[in-house]
Amino acid sequence: MNTPQKVLVGIVACFALLQLIPSQYNQGTSPSSKHVSTLYPTSKTVEQILVRACNDCHSDSTVYPAYAAFQPLRWWIDEHVEEGTRHLNFDAFADYAPYRQFHKIEEVLETVAEGEMPLKSYTYMHEHARLNETQKKELRYWAEGILDSMKRQYPADSLVHPKRRHPGALSEKQQEKAASVFSPTADRVSKSCKPPLQHRAPVPVD
Ligand code: HEC
Repeated sequence: MNTPQKVLVGIVACFALLQLIPSQYNQGTSPSSKHVSTLYPTSKTVEQILVRACNDCHSDSTVYPAYAAFQPLRWWIDEHVEEGTRHLNFDAFADYAPYRQFHKIEEVLETVAEGEMPLKSYTYMHEHARLNETQKKELRYWAEGILDSMKRQYPADSLVHPKRRHPGALSEKQQEKAASVFSPTADRVSKSCKPPLQHRAPVPVD
C-alpha cells in the first residue's frame, strides 16, 4: 500500500469507528400531557406550525433525517436537540414556573420576529420549516394571547424572575435569615436582636 492509500484506509477506519459511538434518540410523545397547548389555547394551525418548524429541537419528539444515521452529522443534530430542549421544551411547558413560561413566550415573539428561529442551518435543509408572513403572524397572535392571559391570571410579580422582583429588596437568603431571627420559635436568636437595655423589663426590687 502506498501512502495515499494508507491515509484513505485510515480515514475510512476512523469513520467506521465513529459510527459505533452510541447516541440516544429523542423520541417521546408529543404533544405530551404537559404540552403548552394543555395550558393555553392553541389552534390546529399553530400546532402544525410548531410541529413543522420547531418541534425537532423544542419537543420530546424529533423526526430524524436519513443522514442522522451517520456520525459526525448525528452529533451536530444531537447538539441542536439538546440545546434547543434545554432552553425551551414545549412538551415540558407545564413544569415551568409562571415567570419562566412568560419569559419563554416573550422569547418566541422576539426570535420569530427577528428571524432567528427556526435556525437558518435547519431551514436550509428543511424547506417546510421556513415560516411565511402568515405563519409568523399566527405564531405572534398565539404568543401575544398567552402573555395576555397570563397577565390576567397571575399577579404581576410572579411573572418576573425571582431575582428581579422588588429591586432593592432582601434576597431570598437574606429573607430566610431575617425570618429565622425574628420568628418566635427560632432558637438562634441573634444577640444583636435583643431589645436595647432601656426597653427591657425592670428588674424587680424586693
Ligand atoms: C434546528 C433546531 C431548532 C429549531 C428547528 C428551532 N429552534 Fe429554537 N432554539 C434552538 C437552539 C439550539 C436554541 C438555544 C440556543 C440559541 O438561543 O440559539 C434555541 C432557542 C430558542 C428560544 C430561546 C429560548 C431561551 O430561553 O433563550 C426560543 C424562544 C426558540 N428557540 C423558539 C423557537 C421557535 C418558536 C421555533 C419554531 C418556529 C424554533 N425555536 C425552532 C434550536 C432550534
